[in-house]
Amino acid sequence: MNKVKIPVRKFDAVIVGAGGAGLRAAIQLSESGLKTAVLSKVFPTRSHTVAAQGGVSASLGNSEEDNWHWHMYDTVKGSDWLGDQDAIEYMCKMAPEVVVELEHFGMPFDRTDEGKIYQRPFGGHMSNFGEKPVRRACAAADRTGHAMLHALYQRNVRANTQFFVEWMALDLIRDESGQVLGVIALEMETGEVVAFHAKATIFATGGAGRIFHSSTNAFINTGDGLGMAARAGIALEDMEFWQFHPTGVAGAGVLITEGVRGEGGILRNSEGERFMERYAPNAKDLASRDVVSRAMTTEINEGRGCGPNKDFVLLDITHLDPATIMKRLPGIREISIQFAGIDPIKAPIPVVPTCHYQMGGIPTNYHGEVVNQDGSAVKGFYAAGECACASVHGANRLGTNSLLDLLVFGKSSGDAVVEAVKNSSVVLKDLPDGFADRTMARLNRLETQTGGTSVDATRLELQRTMQKHCGVFRFNDMLIDGVAKILEVEKLVGKTEIKDKSKVWNTARVEALELDNLIEVAKATMISAEARKESRGAHVRDDAPDTAANPNGRDDAEWHKHTLWHREGNKLSYKPVNMTPLSVETIALKTRSY
Ligand code: FUM
Repeated sequence: MNKVKIPVRKFDAVIVGAGGAGLRAAIQLSESGLKTAVLSKVFPTRSHTVAAQGGVSASLGNSEEDNWHWHMYDTVKGSDWLGDQDAIEYMCKMAPEVVVELEHFGMPFDRTDEGKIYQRPFGGHMSNFGEKPVRRACAAADRTGHAMLHALYQRNVRANTQFFVEWMALDLIRDESGQVLGVIALEMETGEVVAFHAKATIFATGGAGRIFHSSTNAFINTGDGLGMAARAGIALEDMEFWQFHPTGVAGAGVLITEGVRGEGGILRNSEGERFMERYAPNAKDLASRDVVSRAMTTEINEGRGCGPNKDFVLLDITHLDPATIMKRLPGIREISIQFAGIDPIKAPIPVVPTCHYQMGGIPTNYHGEVVNQDGSAVKGFYAAGECACASVHGANRLGTNSLLDLLVFGKSSGDAVVEAVKNSSVVLKDLPDGFADRTMARLNRLETQTGGTSVDATRLELQRTMQKHCGVFRFNDMLIDGVAKILEVEKLVGKTEIKDKSKVWNTARVEALELDNLIEVAKATMISAEARKESRGAHVRDDAPDTAANPNGRDDAEWHKHTLWHREGNKLSYKPVNMTPLSVETIALKTRSY
C-alpha cells in the first residue's frame, strides 16, 4: 500500500458533531482544560438538534407529582423491553440534574405561574407506572431544541472550545490493537484533508434519517458516524428499529411536535372520529409513537384517510384557545401556514407518519464508551446522542427522551474522556503507517470515476427502496426483496460519478461522501430487519401479528436480544438485553398496552 502523507494536528480529544450531544460533551472537556477540537459540517447552532420542538423529559414534578422510577418504567415499556435497564435507570435518574444544569447555563425555558420550568404531557410518559399521562416534558414553547443548542453553544464559547466549522470527518483512525487515534477530515471549503490525531474521539454525529424518502431529518443527517464506525470494523446495534413520528406535515415531512397533542390536540380520520380511542383507550392520542403511527397508517389503509387521495389524517387544535396556540405552539402555527397552507387556529393540519429517529447505532455503555460484543471498551472511542445506542430507546423511543439522551450521555462521555486522559489510561500513540491510504483512495475514486450514475439518482434509489421495503409496516417478502435491492444500490454507490469536480465549495463531492455513509446505514437496517422474525416496538411484521395469545406479536423466547450488524460479510450476531438496573429491581417483561 502507498503511504500517503497528509497534515496532522494533535489534540487531547476530538469530537465529531456539534449538535446537542457534541456540545454537551465539549463543555466537560474544555472546562477541564483538555485541548479539544469539535468538527461540524455546519455551524453548530444549525445542527439538527435545532429542529427538536416539544421538550426534554425530566421528572421535576413541577406541575404534578412525578419521579424517576415512573420515568424509568415508561422508558422500559416504551422500548418494548429492548432497552438496557442499567442505562435507562442512569438516564432517568440523571434527568432532573442535567435539565436544571441547563437552566443554569441560560436555557430560556417557559415558566409556570410560580416561575418553575413549564412541563407538558408527551406520548408514553405516565404517572404511577402507566396510570395516566403526566407533565414531564420541559419546554421552551415549541422550540426547545433551538433554545438548548444556543445555550450549549454559548457555554462552549465561554469555555474556549475550538470549533472546526464546515469540516466533514471521513474515516476513523484505528491501529492494529483496535485503539482509536482520531479521524481524517475534509475541510469542505478548500478540499484540504487533515488527520485529527487525538487520545480520545467522541462521535456525536446525529442520526441517519435521510436513508428514507420521507423524513423529518435535516439534509445533513446522513449517518456519517455510523458509516465511519462500520468501515472501521465496529458492529452497529439494533438498526432495524426506526421511529416514524406520527405527525409530519403531509407531503412535506416537516415535524409537527407531539407537544401539540400534549396541549390537547386530537387526531381525526375522514369521518371526524377521534380514532385513537379505539387503539389506545387509556392514553389515546398520547400513546407511544409506534402505536399512534401504526393506528394512523391503519386508518389510511382501511380507507378512512382524508383529502382527495385519502392519504393523510388530521391533527385538530381548532378547539384550543388561540392564545394558547400563540403562546405554547407559535412555531407549529408558522410551519402549518408555510408548509400546509393551513392556519391551525382555523382548520386541522394534514399529517402522516414520517421517519424521525434511529433507535439503534454505535454500541456504547452508559459512560459513552463504545463497546465490543463482549462489553469490553474500544480504547479511545466514545459516542453519544442519536448516533449511539446506549441502549435506552430499545425498539421505540419516547418523545423528549432524545434531548435527554444527548444531555446525559454527552455529559457522561465527556466525563469518561476527562478521566481517561487525566489518569493516562489513554495516551497518544503513534499513527500507524498508511493510515490515510484508504480514505485517499476513496477520494481519488471520486476524482477519476466516469460513466457511473449520479449521486442524486443513486441516493433517490436508496431512499425509495428503504421507504417501500422497510416502512411503518413490514412484510416478509418485501424485506427479502429489499435486501437484494439495497445490495444492488450498493454496487451503484461504488461507481457514482460526480459531474462537478471543482474543488471549492464542492457540495457534489460532500454528497458523494455522505452517500458512502447512507449505504452502510441502509444495509445495516434492511439486513437486521429482514432477520428479526418478530414484531417489537417500531419493527412490525405481517408474519408476526398481534394475537389474543400474544397481543404484541413479540417472541421473547427467541428474540429478546440486541442485533449486531457487521459490515464484513453483512453478518449478524446477537447479544443479551441488560435487564439488571443499577439500584432497583428489574422491570420484568410483560404485555405492552396504552
Ligand atoms: O414531537 C416532538 O416535539 C419531537 C420530540 C422528540 O422527538 O423527542
